[in-house]
Amino acid sequence: MKILNFGSVNLDYIYRVEHFVQPGETLAAKEQKMAPGGKGLNQSVALAKAGAEVFHAGCIGIGGESLKILLEEYGVHTEYLYKVDELQGNAVIQVDHSGENCILLYGGSNRMITKEQIDETLEHFSTEDWLVLQNEVSNLEYMIEKAAEKGMKVVLNPSPFEAFLEKLDYNQVSWLLINEVEAQQLTGETEAEAVWNTLHEKYPGLSLIMTMGAAGAYCFTPQEMIYQDVFPVKTVDTTAAGDTFTGYFLQGMTSGLSLKECMERAAKASAICVSREGTAIAIPMRAEVEELYHCLKN
Ligand code: RIB
Repeated sequence: MKILNFGSVNLDYIYRVEHFVQPGETLAAKEQKMAPGGKGLNQSVALAKAGAEVFHAGCIGIGGESLKILLEEYGVHTEYLYKVDELQGNAVIQVDHSGENCILLYGGSNRMITKEQIDETLEHFSTEDWLVLQNEVSNLEYMIEKAAEKGMKVVLNPSPFEAFLEKLDYNQVSWLLINEVEAQQLTGETEAEAVWNTLHEKYPGLSLIMTMGAAGAYCFTPQEMIYQDVFPVKTVDTTAAGDTFTGYFLQGMTSGLSLKECMERAAKASAICVSREGTAIAIPMRAEVEELYHCLKN
């Protein structure tokens, strides 16, 4: 069983601000950092830090060479990363005093993924393999269709949300990971159970993770429902907490942990992530997650 993440790779320009900049306002940032990021890269890093073997596919553009090196340093396979003559995808991230963020995304190289690249990459994967996707890449629908045709398990984090995602055939998806905002955009519902009922009725094979920030997360499958509370920590920066959850949850799933164990470990990993600054670099190693477990137990 192999995990393929066809995902974005971004240069993150992170600005610490007192409040998010308002229309017409010029605001001086208190601090600025450049860091590796992108929902795709963060999720691959989280999978690798959790202990999974993961292949990251996508496009490296102009200025993005260091991102490929970073993935390799964490043991992520990069042979399906193509080099393209386009500016590296990037994000401008404001983080306010409460640790909340707002993100402006430029797709760049991440939007250069072609159907030919997808076909070539998927040739190396088969029925027992998993495909992880977010909506920061081009040809997302094609990826889902081709992977489902092969019988791969498709995991989709439809973020950032766009109108076309409402029309996707989620019968081709095994796991959908969404936050409350995306849940409402997709189903019109806000309560977790109502979100699940709406999706389950239309797509009976689908399983769902709905994260709700400080209010915890739900996991629904056709057989069971699990609620996972957050582990309280001092919030420094919430960016990449969802990506951390996704990576840790999937590593647990693909290594045979129970759903309850997967949810608990993913919640611990994201708690550590929000207690730190940054995106990929804030994602904890598995030993740190286990350490938190011991701290909480004693
Ligand atoms: O989820 C956080 C990520 O969203 C950031 O790293 C940024 O690049 C955007 O893709």
